[in-house]
Amino acid sequence: MGEALKVGIAGLGTVGASVVQLLAKHGEQIARKSGRSLTVTAVSARDQSKDRGFDVSAFDWFTDPVELAKTADIDIYVELIGGDNGAAEDSVRAALSRGVHVVTANKALLARHGVDLAMIAEANNACLNYEAAVAGGIPIVKALRESMSGNDISRVYGILNGTCNYILTRMEADGISFEDCLADAQRLGYAEADPTFDIEGNDTAHKLAILTSLAFGTKISSDDIYMEGITSITTADIQAANELGFRIKLLGVAQRTETGIEQRVHPTMVPKTSAIARIDGVLNAVAVDGDYVGEIVLAGPGAGGNATASSVVADIADVARGDETPVLGMPAVDLKDYQRARMRLHEGGYYIRLSVFDRPGAFAEIARCMGEAGISLESIVQKRHANLEAPAQFDADVPQPVILITYETTEVAIKEALDVIMSKGVVAEQPQMIRIEKLN
Ligand code: NAP
Ligand code: HSE
Repeated sequence: MGEALKVGIAGLGTVGASVVQLLAKHGEQIARKSGRSLTVTAVSARDQSKDRGFDVSAFDWFTDPVELAKTADIDIYVELIGGDNGAAEDSVRAALSRGVHVVTANKALLARHGVDLAMIAEANNACLNYEAAVAGGIPIVKALRESMSGNDISRVYGILNGTCNYILTRMEADGISFEDCLADAQRLGYAEADPTFDIEGNDTAHKLAILTSLAFGTKISSDDIYMEGITSITTADIQAANELGFRIKLLGVAQRTETGIEQRVHPTMVPKTSAIARIDGVLNAVAVDGDYVGEIVLAGPGAGGNATASSVVADIADVARGDETPVLGMPAVDLKDYQRARMRLHEGGYYIRLSVFDRPGAFAEIARCMGEAGISLESIVQKRHANLEAPAQFDADVPQPVILITYETTEVAIKEALDVIMSKGVVAEQPQMIRIEKLN
């Protein structure tokens, strides 16, 4: 067995602390499997006095992670700080520039600077490994970078954010409010430092941007992602979805179309019979459609210290093994420019929830607007609010929920039809619109 590889770890929070503990527990086994032993020599965090569940005095302490990356005697720099700039970016650049291998779980950093960092890594013969950055404990980066390289990929999609999936699952199963579910996800260490990144879809978009590059051999283009989060999803939508044979999931989808590659993140109605519909709680799942293999689906924990540490340590072991796979599956200079497909041309079915004034002709008006936009309705259901006080009466000025399911149409047609419906004065508020995804 060769000389021990020296590891520096910056960031000792939820993930970093788990990585230190995992390496201590399974270090010998990893050394036998990778052919090199590993020793953590240096660490960095802001507060040296914080209790992290292990003795930090066993390592060289750096308050400044950039200093660690620049000067410490290390072979591998593990960045577990987070953020797409500042200390995380500067330290990763510093480590790669002097040929130190980097392992990171930082999807925000890679989504913004991934191609640039890959160039620096490749110019300096350093690895840049980031399995934990996408879908936590699921080995999807390895699957795309290595195992599926013989396939032409047409679509990659999945549940990529554990916090959102946890919230949607608990809202449905336990009837708990959005805010309480989010607070639980934060307590369990699933959420980002700024949880708006989870619930507004940014975190899913960062991961999708990386998957798109790996799947299609294109430069990472996170600014070209259509994005909606889950904050507008109500229990009424979740219940209606259930009654109609669907579940609501926040999906990230990248697919090849005739006009380019569509990248989108939004709440999605998925058929209850699909594999994705059965992914609950903090679990993530990623599906890839390849021309030779067909569809593969990988599922597992998408967030949390231990699951994420599992991927970080696998990346460290790959460095120890001498694995030199290009950062984004092919040399960064060979990546193609990303060509964006326009979202207005997106095709699919739609769930629409309207709040309709219960007046004569209101339904007919809505059906006419849809018809004039060329949209066929698969179903239309009025879900009258229960009024136990006076069940026989109705008030034309009290809006009632109406759910429409459309056959396949285009995004532009739906948006124009809903604008016209709004202008007719038959609905009381902005319609809710959720895309339906065709899945196996
Ligand atoms: P966290 O619990 O907030 O930990 C962040 C760590 O970074 C803390 O130890 C903090 O120090 C340290 N830190 C922050 N700013 C620093 C600075 N300027 N200089 C030195 N140290 C600094 O975050 P986390 O949940 O472990 O996430 C870390 C990374 O993993 C992020 O990129 C995140 O997106 C990614 N990730 C997280 C999960 C998850 O489930 N949590 C899953 C996959 C990927 P102090 O402890 O002293 O404050
Ligand atoms: N906040 C992220 C999530 C962590 O909830 O999925 C894992 O990347």
